[in-house]
Parts: sequence; structure tokens; C-alpha cells
Amino acid sequence: MKWPEGVTIKEVGPRDGLQNEKTFISTDDKIAWINQLSESGLKHIEITSFVNPKWIPALSDATAVATGITKVPGVTYTALVPNLRGLERAFQSNVDEIAVFMSASETHNQKNINKSIDQTFPVLRDLVRETIMAGKISRGYVSTVFGCPYEGHVKIESVIRVSENLFEMGIAELSLGDTIGVANPKQVQDVLEVLLKRFPADNLAMHFHDTRGTALANILVSLEMGVTTFDSSLGGLGGCPYAPGASGNVATDDLLYMLHGMGIHTGVDQHKLLHASQFIQEKIGRTLPSKSFQAASSALGGTLGSTV
Ligand code: HMG
Ligand code: MG
Repeated sequence: MKWPEGVTIKEVGPRDGLQNEKTFISTDDKIAWINQLSESGLKHIEITSFVNPKWIPALSDATAVATGITKVPGVTYTALVPNLRGLERAFQSNVDEIAVFMSASETHNQKNINKSIDQTFPVLRDLVRETIMAGKISRGYVSTVFGCPYEGHVKIESVIRVSENLFEMGIAELSLGDTIGVANPKQVQDVLEVLLKRFPADNLAMHFHDTRGTALANILVSLEMGVTTFDSSLGGLGGCPYAPGASGNVATDDLLYMLHGMGIHTGVDQHKLLHASQFIQEKIGRTLPSKSFQAASSALGGTLGSTV
């Protein structure tokens, strides 16, 4: 097997990781954490979301966070945006990249953004157009690609339709979401075989939640199929509040451990991230799911890790 020389990691911890947390992480702590991530070699960080704060109270301080961080040159700072009201707030906060999102399944789309799939297309089309006109990059997410918490199996035709629409709008990259962590490697292979006939691997990213422990296996298959961009969340935090049963994203710590061990370059300093994981674990007040973080912290004799 020939593995790629390098992989791009898109850190979504400050957005996906924190959006579902019951403990409100203070604005100062969010900023301090993002600043630590910025110093680790990560080149892409999704820092917050400009959604309706009543829907996601954990990120209601999006403006203060986005304007409070110390930006490192060469790092792209992204925010999740659902509508023009959110775009206006994101532009005022001067983020570099806008991530738009919708689902391949009707019920999750409705529960998550209060619209049908067909009602969502014109909203996102306006967002992508305005983003491009403002000289900024636009990224798209399609959720429930591998299964929906309400409908179960999701037809590949629905995934293709939503993906085609998003690319036609002008997004630069599409992130394929296993929102509730149900995918297995064979399914990932089957889905990618279909999608890679339509879209170049370079324009795709994989976004695996690790609810059932299959995320790294799914990433390995995606690598074999030529995809080299992966979303992950430090410590394995994460989950969508409108997807019952969804737990954290694949942990950045675990992904780095696997990739670096295989000789695949990421540009990220694992040691610096250990401290960032410890920082957020202490703020959240519970043990982070990442196995490699827990192993590294116990190997360091408790100077890192399970202090909670
Ligand atoms: P809605 O209630 O239908 O919105 O929500 P509305 O347009 O009817 O407006 C209602 C009120 O909200 C109005 O205020 C608006 O101004 C305000 P009022 O006039 O009543 O005082 N409002 C806003 N305020 C601030 N910022 C905004 C905004 N929009 C409206 N952007 C909406 C529709 C889409 C906004 C809502 O459903 C929402 O915010 N949903 C987001 C849910 C969410 O964030 N889910 C998690 C992220 S997706 C995810 O995790 C999946 C992903 O990780 C990939 C994967 O894992 O698959 C990306
Ligand atoms: Mg997610």
C-alpha cells in the first residue's frame, strides 16, 4: 500500500467540540485554547459558529471569541454559518473562511436548521455567493452521509444531490459527515467509490464522529482511496445537539498518533497539542475520550491528563 506523504488536518474542536458541551467554557478560556491550537502547527481551525445563539448557547460568545484570538499568519480561521444573519456577524468578526452546512437526510436537516433540504439550497447559495464576493473561501458540510439518527439509512442519491448542489454554488471543499459515527470501512469505500467518480479527491474532506470506535479505520480506508483532508477535534470532543446519540469527532491526538507513526507528515507538533488537550480537559472537568492523550499523560506520570 502506498500512503500519501502528507495529510491536512482541519481542527474543529472549538466549534464541533464545544457546541454540545454542558459546561459553558468562558470566552477567555476559549480564546486561550484557540491560541494554543494556533501555535501547534495546525493550519486550519474552525473557531466557532454564528448560528442562532438560542439553538447553540455554548457558542453564544462567537463574536468575542473570533475577535479576541491572536491570529497566526498562515492559519485559516473558519466559522460555521447557517444564514445571512450569521454571515453578517462572521464578516464583522473578520473570519477567513465560511463553512456552510446541511444534511443529506430530510429529517436531520429539518431538526438542525429548521428547513427542508429544498428550502436550504437558496439560503446557502446566497451565503456562498456573498462569501466569494467578499474574497473569502467557502467550505461545505454534508451531514448524515452514512446514516441519520431519525431516518436510518441514507440513500447515496441524496448525498450526490446535496453535494452537487453545494459544489455548483462554488464551495472550495466538501466535508462528508458521519454525524452520528455509524460508518464502517466497507461503507466508506462504497460511498467514496461513487463520489470520487464525480468529485476530485482533492476537493473532499472526511468528518468522522467516533461514536462506535470506527473513525480511524474509516480514515485509513479514505486515505487508501486518495482523500487526504480530515476534520478532527482535540481530545475527541464533539457532537451535534440535534443528532441524538452523536458523540465526539475522531480525536486529533489519536489521528496524529496514527499518521505520524505511519510516517505521514501533518506539520503539527503533537507535544504542543498534549498541553492544549490537558488545558481543555481541566476546563471541561471530565476525562477526554482520546486514548492516545490518556496514554501519553499517564506515561508522563500524571503531569498531564486525568487531573479531573
Ligand atoms: P430559526 O429559528 O428558524 O431562525 O433558526 P429564524 O430565521 O426564524 O430567526 C429566529 C430568530 O433567530 C430571529 O430573532 C433571528 O434574528 C435569530 P428574533 O427576530 O426572533 O429576535 N437568528 C439569529 N441570530 C443570530 N445569528 C444567526 C441567527 N439566525 C437567526 N445566525 C437557524 C434557523 C438555522 C438559525 C437555526 O436552526 C440554527 O441556528 N441552527 C444551527 C444548529 C447547529 O448549530 N447545529 C450544530 C452544527 S451542525 C453539525 O454539528 C454537523 C457538522 O459538524 C457535520 C457533521 O458532523 O455531520 C457540521
Ligand atoms: Mg460534526
